Amino acid sequence: MTEHVVITGASAGIGAATARLLVKKGYYVTLIARRIEKLQTLEKELSGHVSIITLDITEKEALQNSFERIEQNRPIDVLINNAGAAFGIDKAQDANLADLERCIDLNIKGLLYCTQCVLPSMVKRKHGHIINLGSIAGTYAYPGGNVYGATKAFVHQFSMNLRADLLGTSVRVSCIEPGLTGETEFSEVRFKGDLQKVNKLYDKANPLTAKDIAETIFFCMNAPAHVNINRIELMPVSQAFGALSVHRDD
Ligand SMILES: NC(=O)c1ccc[n+]([C@@H]2O[C@H](COP(=O)([O-])OP(=O)(O)OC[C@H]3O[C@@H](n4cnc5c(N)ncnc54)[C@H](OP(=O)(O)O)[C@@H]3O)[C@@H](O)[C@H]2O)c1
Repeated sequence: MTEHVVITGASAGIGAATARLLVKKGYYVTLIARRIEKLQTLEKELSGHVSIITLDITEKEALQNSFERIEQNRPIDVLINNAGAAFGIDKAQDANLADLERCIDLNIKGLLYCTQCVLPSMVKRKHGHIINLGSIAGTYAYPGGNVYGATKAFVHQFSMNLRADLLGTSVRVSCIEPGLTGETEFSEVRFKGDLQKVNKLYDKANPLTAKDIAETIFFCMNAPAHVNINRIELMPVSQAFGALSVHRDD
């Protein structure tokens, strides 16, 4: 039977690119996001191979109801917890608390709610794969990364702890941790629509593409059933580590 993949944050960027690739590879995909028009456009493009659900994954009750319906129609083989965002890049001391809370609600709580919805059935069926989108920001600190980086550290550690809990169930868990990735709306959201800043960030940077990440996700899914890829960290060749900073008193 055709494998059923659910992708959160499928209306743009990495989620949409992954949906396109997985349909090409023969999967049936349920696309979740908030913007109906974007989902409908993708549904038209991938017609017959996808279902769309408009849902804010921070709304726990609506989410639980939607996942129940999805699961009743077609058991879920793979959940790709991709929806995520950063809202601003101010230093913690200057950041807007509401932006930081939104980031926690989406990247931590939303991902947790979706995971908890699929786990019972996957464990019962002794079959399934959860793929979480972390980030290099969860490992490497940078100014303005504060809460976003911390949420992605959660995603990394939650993924590894899930593996510990799921031992003996055959359910797989992978965490994909990309660096700078273009062809997405991530920076537009982070810079709150300031396209000048967005264009400056990507200008001549040759970033990873959403398709690169989609192919990495597919690589994890396509590994033999006895193989669990725990985590993959990837960056564009054009991105690397900087020196630690030292402040000196005048
Ligand atoms: N781009 C990068 O450089 C980069 C690097 C490392 C990791 N990542 C991670 O990769 C993942 C995908 O990001 P992206 O770069 O593809 O960004 P993107 O283009 O902004 O896509 C984010 C997706 O999440 C959806 N979303 C946002 N809030 C949501 C909510 N409350 N409920 C449901 N869906 C929601 C958005 O759709 P709607 O607005 O329609 O809901 C959109 O489809 C994120 O977890 C991000 O942290 C990105």
